[in-house]
Amino acid sequence: MVNGQQETIIYLDPNQSVEDRVKDLMNRMSLEEKVYQMNQFVGLDHMRKAEKDLTEEELHSNDAQGFYKGLFSEDVAEMTRRGEIGSFLHVVTDRESNLLQNLAAESRLKIPLLIGIDAIHGNALVSGTTVYPSPITLASTWSDSYLETIGIQTAREMRATGSQWTFTPNIDVLRDPRWGRVGETFGEDHFLVGNLGAAMIRGLQQNDFTGNQKVIACAKHMIAGGEPINGLNASPMDVSIRTLKEVHLKPYKKAIDEGVYSIMAAHNELNGVPCHMDSSLMTDLFRNKWGFQGFFVSDWMDIERIETLHHVANSLKEASYLAVSAGMDMHMHGPKFPEAVVALVEEGKLPIQRVNEACEKILTAKFKLGLFENRTVDIKSIPDKVFTPEHQQVALETARKGIVLLKNEGLLPLEKTISNKRILVTGPNANNQTILGDWHSPQPDEKVITIFEGLKTVGSKCGYDLEFFDSGENIRKIKDNTIAAAANKAKDVDYVVLVVGDNAMRYRWKDKTAGENMGRAALDLAGKQLDLVKAIEATGTPIIIVLVNHRPISEPWLHDHIPSIVEAWGPGSLGGQAVAEIIFGQVNPSGKLPLTIARDVGQLRMIYNHKPSAYFHKYAFEKIEPLYPFGFGLSFTNFEYSKPKLSSTMINSNEIVSVTVSVTNTGNYDGDEVVQMYIRDQVSSVTRPVKELKGYKRIFLKKGETKEVFFDIDKSTLAFYDINMKYCVEPGDFTIMVGSSSDDRDLKSTKLTVKNRMDVND
Ligand code: BGC
Repeated sequence: MVNGQQETIIYLDPNQSVEDRVKDLMNRMSLEEKVYQMNQFVGLDHMRKAEKDLTEEELHSNDAQGFYKGLFSEDVAEMTRRGEIGSFLHVVTDRESNLLQNLAAESRLKIPLLIGIDAIHGNALVSGTTVYPSPITLASTWSDSYLETIGIQTAREMRATGSQWTFTPNIDVLRDPRWGRVGETFGEDHFLVGNLGAAMIRGLQQNDFTGNQKVIACAKHMIAGGEPINGLNASPMDVSIRTLKEVHLKPYKKAIDEGVYSIMAAHNELNGVPCHMDSSLMTDLFRNKWGFQGFFVSDWMDIERIETLHHVANSLKEASYLAVSAGMDMHMHGPKFPEAVVALVEEGKLPIQRVNEACEKILTAKFKLGLFENRTVDIKSIPDKVFTPEHQQVALETARKGIVLLKNEGLLPLEKTISNKRILVTGPNANNQTILGDWHSPQPDEKVITIFEGLKTVGSKCGYDLEFFDSGENIRKIKDNTIAAAANKAKDVDYVVLVVGDNAMRYRWKDKTAGENMGRAALDLAGKQLDLVKAIEATGTPIIIVLVNHRPISEPWLHDHIPSIVEAWGPGSLGGQAVAEIIFGQVNPSGKLPLTIARDVGQLRMIYNHKPSAYFHKYAFEKIEPLYPFGFGLSFTNFEYSKPKLSSTMINSNEIVSVTVSVTNTGNYDGDEVVQMYIRDQVSSVTRPVKELKGYKRIFLKKGETKEVFFDIDKSTLAFYDINMKYCVEPGDFTIMVGSSSDDRDLKSTKLTVKNRMDVND
C-alpha cells in the first residue's frame, strides 16, 4: 500500500507491455532468483518412476532417467514452491502440469514455469494425443505446408495439456544412417531440412508465439550431430569448416530467420570443442551475426558432460562457466548448476549481464505465452482439443503422402475381388505401435490403427479375408519355430503382407533397435527378419513387404526377390489405414525418399550430393550405386517431363530466371508427383557437389493431364563458398536439372550461364 492506495505491480498487470513487465520483474529479483529461471528439472512423475523402477546402481548408470543423487521428488516439489526452478521437462500429464504450476504460484514472485516436451511429431509423449507421422515420413511428403499445419495443431494439443515449449524441429542434416535418430530428422539434404524445419517453426510459433494457442519451437541440435564418426549418438563430429557452413549451418540460418525462439546445443563435440561451450557458434555467429533473439538450452545433462565426458573442465562450476559465458542460457536439467553460476557471478568471473540476458529472454517467453495469466489448463476440456477429427485427418493425409513405394512389379494395387481371396498379415511390426516412431508414449489402442487393423478394415471392403499371424514383435528374439509356423500359414493364402523393419519404442529399452541412442553398425534387416522373409518367399505365395522403420534398411535381397515393397517409415496414429489404402489402390503413393538408401553399410558415406571424385574408382566387388536414390518414389501412374526451359539463358546480379517444365500424367491413375530441381556448377574455384537440390513442388495431375511447373533461380540459388571462403556466385555455366528423382535417368537438363561474379550475403 502506498498512501492508502494498492501498489500496481507492473509485471502482474497484463495491460502493460511485455518489455515493461520483464523490466519490472527483473528489478525485483535477486541474483539467485534470476539464475533459478535458467534451470530446469524433470517432472515429478518421471522422477518417481525412476525412484520406483530402478535399483540404486541403475539410477547411477542410466542417465536417461531423471534422478538426482540425494534429491527426491518431494524435494523438487518444495523447490518449485520456493521459486527455485524456472522450467520442467518430461511432464506428461495435465494433472502434473497443473500441480507444478500451482506450486510455482505459491512462490515469492509467482513466476510460472515454462514446461518443455519433445513434441516432435505431435504431442506424442502425452497419452491420447494425435501422433503424426515421424519426421522422416513427413520429409518424404516434400511438402512444407503440411509441416506448418502440423505445427499449428501440435501447439494447440500441447497448450491443451499444459506444455508451452517443444524441443523440435530436429534440423540435423543426416549424413550417416547408422545413427539411431534418422527417424527424427528430415533427411540428408540441407535445403529440404531447412525448409521443413522453418515451416514447422512457423506453425508452432505463429509469428511471435503470443497468446495461449502457440508454443516456442527449439531448433536442435547445434551442431552436426548427423554425421557421427562411428554412427553412434553423441560421438565426436570431425567436420571441415566448409562442410559445416555449406551443410550443417544452413538450416539454422533459416530457423533463425523464421524467428525460432530457442536453440538446443548438441551432445557432441565439434572438431574438439564440446558444442555446449562453442561461443563462436552461439554468440559470434547465431546471436551477433544472424541476430538470434531467443535463448539457448543445453541438451540433457550436457553441461555436466563438459566435465564428466569430454574432460575439458575440472568441475561442474568450470563447465558451467564455459557454457554460460559462451552463450548458454538454460540448463537441462538438475541441481548444482544454480549454485555454480551464482558463485561465478559473485566471484566476478561471469558477468552479471550474461545472467540478466538469459533470464530476460526466458521471462519474455513466459509473458508472451500468457502464462502469468493462464498457467494451468482446464482438464475437462482436453478431450475436445486433442485427437480431434481435424487433426486426425491431417495425420492420415500426411501418412498417405509420406509413404514411399520402393518397388512394384505389377502386384499393387490389389484389385477389388469377389472371390474372397485370403491375405496373411505377419511380421514383427504388423500389429504394434512402432508405427508411431520415436518420442511417443504408449497410446490408447482405440486411437491407433495398426498396419493389420488398417488392412483388415480396408481389405474386407475390397472382398479379401485378412488374418493375422503373430510372429512375435521383439525383433531381437524371433524364433525359428515361429518362422516355420508363419511359412506354414503362408502356403494356404493368396498373398502375404509382411511387415518388417525396426523398432523405436523408447519405453521398450531392451527390445528397441532404432531411435535415440540406438545406433547400428549394419543397415540390414535386424535379427532373423530376413530368415522370416525367405521362409515365406520359399512358399511361392506373392509377398508385399511393408517396411516400418526409423532408419533406412539396406537389404538388396528384398529388392531382388520381392515384387512389391512399401516404405511406410513411422506413419503415425492412422498409419495402418494409409498403408492399406495404398495397397488396395484407394490412394496412389507419392512419397519420395529424403535420403539415399545404400546397398550396404560399407558403402557409407553415401549421399546424393557427393563430390565429383567420389566414384572415380570402384570397389573390388561391390556396386557403387545406391539401392534407392535420394528423391526416389514410385507411383501407380507414370509422369513424363519435358526438357526444362529458362526465361533467360544468362543471369546477372539481382535477376531472377525462371525454369519451366511440363509434367504429364501418362498412366491410368490420378496422382501426385513431386517435381524436383537440382543444379550443378560446372567449373568452380573449389569442388562442388554433382547435384544440389534447389527446388521441389508437389502437384496433383489427373490421368492424361499436363501441368507447367515453375521454379525461380536467383543468385542465392547458385551461391557457394569460394576458395577464399567468400560466399558468391562465380562466372560460368550451371546445369539445371528437373525431374522425378536425383537419379540422372530421371532428370532432364538445360544450361544457365553466369556472366559476372556476384557476391552474396550469408
Ligand atoms: C535429446 C534431445 C531431447 C532431450 C529431452 C535428449 O537426450 O538429445 O533431443 O530434446 O533429451 O528429452
